[in-house]
Amino acid sequence: MPGLAVASLDLERQADFGAQADLCNLTRPLPRAVWIAVRIDSRIAVRIAVCVAVCVAVCVAVCVAVCVAVCVAIAVAISIAIMRSLFFAWLAALGLCPALVFAQVGEEVPFITTPDRVTLAMLQLAGVRSSDHVLDLGSGDGRIVITAARRFGASALGVEIVPELVQRSRDAARQAGVEGRAQFREQDLFKTDLSAATVITMYLLPEVNLQLRPALLQLAPGTRIVSHDWDMGDWLPDETLTMAVPDKKIGREKISRLHRWVVPVRAEGLWCGPGGAQLRLTQRFQAVQAQWRLGPREHMLHGVLDGRRLSLLGATMRKPLQGRVEDTQMQLQTPALAPSREGAAGRPGLIRLTRSAAASCGA
Ligand SMILES: C[S@@+](CC[C@H](N)C(=O)[O-])C[C@H]1O[C@@H](n2cnc3c(N)ncnc32)[C@H](O)[C@@H]1O
Repeated sequence: MPGLAVASLDLERQADFGAQADLCNLTRPLPRAVWIAVRIDSRIAVRIAVCVAVCVAVCVAVCVAVCVAVCVAIAVAISIAIMRSLFFAWLAALGLCPALVFAQVGEEVPFITTPDRVTLAMLQLAGVRSSDHVLDLGSGDGRIVITAARRFGASALGVEIVPELVQRSRDAARQAGVEGRAQFREQDLFKTDLSAATVITMYLLPEVNLQLRPALLQLAPGTRIVSHDWDMGDWLPDETLTMAVPDKKIGREKISRLHRWVVPVRAEGLWCGPGGAQLRLTQRFQAVQAQWRLGPREHMLHGVLDGRRLSLLGATMRKPLQGRVEDTQMQLQTPALAPSREGAAGRPGLIRLTRSAAASCGA
């Protein structure tokens, strides 16, 4: 029916027109598809907004944390520097330390000279001879090196980190006529090869001595070390000399302590000899404890190493056992040992022992 067809066409147009009108007129309900699209878009928008917000928050938090950490680190460093200066100023005020005479290159050991009398005493305590090679660690104006060359005929080397002091030392050696035997090197003492030295002298600081200690213990057995004033912790000196120094520039006591060590050979372990002789040594620096077995008898001994020389004494012994320790061999001069309950007295004599890696000498 044509009338009916025209009417339905009009209705469709109206519907289309109504849909378009719906899109523009928000007061009217939107079609379902449009609603879904709008809702999906808004969810994505919310997610993007949340992501952006989280990123911004994280960035801000990281920036704030980094800034706070940097500020705290700077504040701590400044406080330490101030406290350090105050501490040294306080020591200086007490006359205990020439706090502000630090060498220029930022190292911690200040330049203070060893008085001449003390220099001489240090070299005498080390027993310096013309055959020695003396190494002064932190040689300052070169006085120890020059004295070792001029008074003792030794060859000597000074290592010093401050260039002007090295130049001053070279000039002084030339003036003293010993520039051939007294050499100076501008060098960090921690980067110096110590192995050629037979005598090492130092006037540093306790903590620097301790830092050097492992390298000093690696030196050839018998190397002598003399330190002005400062020791080396629980590596006790073999000898300490205290001398009055009225003109000493630092400290209240006006004394100098000179410490001498002799690098001990590494003797720890088991040593085996003929006839079941067995010596088991434990060692702490130059101090040794020993279990000495000869035949049926066993003695607990204690003693010291002076370089390669070993000396052991036990409760029942009148004279010490004396020995010389090489890398794998030891010669032991045994005195007569007092008789024990288990057996006869040991006879005096020279015993040759060999270092053993076994658990016991019979094994
Ligand atoms: C207390 S003075 C001793 C000077 C000289 N040995 C004496 O007894 O007269 C210490 C010297 O060690 C130097 N020194 C400090 N740190 C050093 C280093 N890392 N390497 C070499 N020399 C250093 C200082 O510049 C200073 O001259």
